[in-house]
Amino acid sequence: MYDYKKQIYEAVKEVLNGAELADIVPSDAFCDYCIPCFKFAKLLHKSPMVIAADAAAAIKLDGIKAEALNGYLNFTIEREAFISHAFAPLGAYRPLEGKTVCIDYSSVNIAKPFHIGHLMTTVIGGSLHKIYKALGANVVGINHLGDFGTQFGGLISAYMRWGEEKRLDERGLDELLELYVRYHNESEKDAALAAEAREWSQKIESGDSYAVGLFEKFKAITLEQAKRVYKRLNIEFDSYLGESFYADKVSAVEDKLNAKHLLKTSEGAKIVELADDMPPALIRRSDGASLYIARDLAAAYYRRDNYKFDKCLYVVASHQALHFKQLFKVLELLGEPWAADMVHVSYGMVSVEGMSLSTRRGNVLYLSDVLDAAVDKAAGIIAERNPLLEDKKSVAESVGVGAVVFDALYDGRLKDKNFVLDNALNFDGETGPYVQYTYARCRSVLNKAGYKATKNIDLSALASDEAYEVVKLLADFDEAVYSAAVKYEPSIVSRRLVKICQVFNRFYNADRIMCGGTVQTARLYLTARVADTLKYGLSLILLDAPERM
Ligand code: ARG
Repeated sequence: MYDYKKQIYEAVKEVLNGAELADIVPSDAFCDYCIPCFKFAKLLHKSPMVIAADAAAAIKLDGIKAEALNGYLNFTIEREAFISHAFAPLGAYRPLEGKTVCIDYSSVNIAKPFHIGHLMTTVIGGSLHKIYKALGANVVGINHLGDFGTQFGGLISAYMRWGEEKRLDERGLDELLELYVRYHNESEKDAALAAEAREWSQKIESGDSYAVGLFEKFKAITLEQAKRVYKRLNIEFDSYLGESFYADKVSAVEDKLNAKHLLKTSEGAKIVELADDMPPALIRRSDGASLYIARDLAAAYYRRDNYKFDKCLYVVASHQALHFKQLFKVLELLGEPWAADMVHVSYGMVSVEGMSLSTRRGNVLYLSDVLDAAVDKAAGIIAERNPLLEDKKSVAESVGVGAVVFDALYDGRLKDKNFVLDNALNFDGETGPYVQYTYARCRSVLNKAGYKATKNIDLSALASDEAYEVVKLLADFDEAVYSAAVKYEPSIVSRRLVKICQVFNRFYNADRIMCGGTVQTARLYLTARVADTLKYGLSLILLDAPERM
């Protein structure tokens, strides 16, 4: 990435005698930058007009014109100079080299379905994983499994009473869910059931081989289903260490808390009192069971010790905001400076077609069913648009799944979302299929032209207004990716991709590509760069880029 802003920034800093610079403001016509000089008047004992004029005269930058106007210092980057620096190799910008980032995402619960409520954590986290990696960071993707708690005791006792191995093997998670619901209903009537469940959960904890064996089976069933979804979403994890792994590491956390006199006993429970505006953190219940936050504290230490992270992200819904505030606060009270490197990457609620989803009572919408519905619909659209397409089935999978993911990653993550299948699959809207289709169109132009990469390209042929708009967006793509990482906001990448498609399509309609000579070569080169950038960008937000559509 050729950094004009930095060049300007440094030059201005020098001529203004080290005055604290306000942010350089990109003006309306992008890649022209502007610095208001009003702030410096007092310090430099000169009027803003004079400051701007003096600075404009003193600044000499190659390919960048400096001018003063009404107390503003304006910079214009000369087109040809800009174009000559615009095409760095994709993925070569690696400002996070040497940094380690842990990302806790998806974090599914054992014996629970992979429902639509897990969509956001899964795709935001999965995309941040790719984005950080692309910027050179060492990323540890962690699926912090919800595999600890008394509910598993309940599940085992339900299975012992009403379950059957054969049925479990055939029906998998559906069977587990039914057993769990039945346990819930019947335990309201029969107190013996709860006692039985407690016994089973104690057996799991003490390592009883039968109980652990059953639990491991439930876990395998859940993970098998989750991994099928992850594969469709192009998502990977580096660790599946879940809550149960940390249960025996809570006492080491209690030792640390005791050493700082932070652990209090209240009605038999172990707690840490926090700031006035927060309820205390519950570490252990009076019956000795550790709590969610206690296992998260142990996990934080484990990650810190084993991965030596520079940042640890938790991609978790906004309704757990208090939990993370408490978690970070306890670490702060423990005097851990790295508490400041932990971030709750929160996001809003998802509803489908206006229906808000509750995870309880059978009212669940499986993510895989939503993906299937999108793929079905995509298959219908593709059959109509391009009946002769060869690999229709795999294209429909890429387009359908991609439409759902793109839609989830298109708005800022904090906004609540209402998912509407038809909108997500609109080929002419701001959607995944639109970006994928533009990519396929670029490829088809290049194939028809028999385009081959060459070294001798007359880039000055790209100075038309339409071509130049494309060049600017491509040149700035690395910065968009970086900004997505810094703000934990993959939507910055998705939005940038849509913009590139829009300006490319404008260029495609305005400037005839197959016009012969060096101009044609340059325009094909630009088309190839658009294609490469779209494919690269789509991969960062988990989408495939089919060659034909
Ligand atoms: N399993 C939890 C849930 O579904 C999310 C876990 C998030 N990660 C964490 N370290 N607490 O609500």
